[in-house]
Amino acid sequence: MLNTDNIIRNFPILTRVINGKKLVYLDNAATSQKPFSVVEAISSYYLNNNANVHRGVHTLSDESTTIFETSKIKIAKFFGAKNNELIFVRNTTEAINGVAYGWGEQNINSDDVILVSILDHHSNIVVWQELCKRKKARLIFVGITSDGKFDVNDFDAKLKKFAGKIKLVVFPHVSNALGSTIDLKIIVKKVRATEKVRVVEKTLRSKNIVSKSSGSKSDFKFDSKIRILVDGAQSAPHMKINFDNLDVDFFAFSGHKMLGPMGIGGLLVREELLITNEMRPWLFGGGMIAEVHESHTIFNDNLSERFVAGTPDVASVAGLAVACEYLENLGMENVLIHDHGLVQYALSELEKNKNVEIVGPKDETRTGSVSFIFKGVHAHDVAQVLDSEGIAVRSGHHCTMPLHTSQKWIATTRASFQVYNSKADIDALTDGLKKVAKIFL
Ligand SMILES: Cc1ncc(COP(=O)(O)O)c(C=O)c1O
Repeated sequence: MLNTDNIIRNFPILTRVINGKKLVYLDNAATSQKPFSVVEAISSYYLNNNANVHRGVHTLSDESTTIFETSKIKIAKFFGAKNNELIFVRNTTEAINGVAYGWGEQNINSDDVILVSILDHHSNIVVWQELCKRKKARLIFVGITSDGKFDVNDFDAKLKKFAGKIKLVVFPHVSNALGSTIDLKIIVKKVRATEKVRVVEKTLRSKNIVSKSSGSKSDFKFDSKIRILVDGAQSAPHMKINFDNLDVDFFAFSGHKMLGPMGIGGLLVREELLITNEMRPWLFGGGMIAEVHESHTIFNDNLSERFVAGTPDVASVAGLAVACEYLENLGMENVLIHDHGLVQYALSELEKNKNVEIVGPKDETRTGSVSFIFKGVHAHDVAQVLDSEGIAVRSGHHCTMPLHTSQKWIATTRASFQVYNSKADIDALTDGLKKVAKIFL
């Protein structure tokens, strides 16, 4: 486990007293706290270097451009991605919207299928519902197992059932509601194996690939490219991501959940999709152009700049780079070990409470959070009592209403962890739950 006594000193907010008690912050899946070095990077930028990037020859503009570019290189490296593959956005939600508008608008057609998981956050559902509405495409959900894991058998069955129709597969790397961790290797292998399926002539005809007059009954090789989008909002804060080794097409993340500032996140896109223009800019304006004429525009050849429309948030990019450095200094392997240690400790302590029903997986694959139902007490009441003890947790559906509805859960309470949390924080939580029982039961 990490040495949290040292780490806590880097997070001034953790010294706060809430309702007369020392703050115990267990709402990290919603947003993490920021170390002093991240806040300092942002204020230092505005106090010393602020100027617009890429557009000036004066010294401050040069400094600002250098801060932006060097920070970008650091962040891309942190994610094991090429510099060109990183597109800055505000957050995971905007990254997913970017895939819908930059890729989906030109690649999804009527009757195509997008596979999504019932574990998905609303951000990775609503965007696709809207695209499907625009394109008359279909959104098909993959279910979960009885212990709250992504159901690989159901996924397999749907890959087969909709073979030749599936254009996009999306899922969360780690579920924000249940902590279920999806094994990317297994999913990618299955998707890539399905890409070259033998489909009967009937299927090809229905897609107008073979003329209706063809009488042949023979099978055809059909290369159906399936793009994979991973929602990494809850994995990036806890584990090493090596984008170039994952063989996925898109990876979305939010800086604010991984010790970085709010308002900055990233969409990683496989370079080939950018080079071939399969993925196009979805925001247009200055900065991303090479030439603008009255009749047309030629976009910047530089892939890295083609997706920067308008002035970027340089200070937040600088802050995110420092957050990446902070995590890297701890070592992402250690960060994951620490998280899994806390999750397992929380599971074992909460299980001792007969009023608590844990939802989601209980094995070592669970990452980031533990959610539960406190029998007979609404989750909001649980959270309110815990707040009176200085303990911050989240209650409700956690932006996973389809999941909660499918499981008939009205609401759940979630404790989620970061590098500064310790077993003592979980002890405070279990003590706080005793007060809940005293008040309500
Ligand atoms: C799995 C998952 N996806 C997407 C999001 C949306 O993130 P943001 O609000 O930063 O866009 C969240 C936020 O909690 C999440 O947990």
